[in-house]
Amino acid sequence: MEISKEQIKQIEEFVKSKVNSLDWTHTKAVRNLGLKIAKQEKADKEIIEVTCLLHNVGRHKGREKYKERGADMARKYLEKNNFDQRLIEEVIYCLNADFQIEPKDFKTIEAKIFKDADSIDKISMFGILFFGINNELLVNGDYDKAIEKLMEKTKKKLDRLATKTGKEMGKEKYLEFKKYLAKL
Ligand SMILES: [Fe+2]
Repeated sequence: MEISKEQIKQIEEFVKSKVNSLDWTHTKAVRNLGLKIAKQEKADKEIIEVTCLLHNVGRHKGREKYKERGADMARKYLEKNNFDQRLIEEVIYCLNADFQIEPKDFKTIEAKIFKDADSIDKISMFGILFFGINNELLVNGDYDKAIEKLMEKTKKKLDRLATKTGKEMGKEKYLEFKKYLAKL
């Protein structure tokens, strides 16, 4: 499978037209993490890049069922633009697995890597900031509760990482986060 730079650029434009800049920043980080893990794990870089880029496209209409909506939009986009059918099925498998089954049951290495990349970005400094921005109102100004929720969420993400490279990267981010917290 060969995807051209132009096709990637088109996907980027499509996604950018659908998501806000916060989600787009996360999407780019997930793509970069996914490509790094893919290299180490010798997985299909194209499936991972396309999946990571499209994974939040359903968010333009709010958070409810955005993964389901996103998978449908991704399929329509890829089919309309004549992407290779095998690539489409692999990408859609990753996007559907994300809301249908647990990461430990994912059948392809690409699905595991996509999920790891998505989780690792949420453990990173940006992810923590992202969480803070999104949840500012949920914790009602209670600092301890906010940190406790954040730690819980972060640890859960770390424990669910599926690939060897993902686990190593996630642990590094988690330690950075703890160090940061200790400095506060
Ligand atoms: Fe994500």
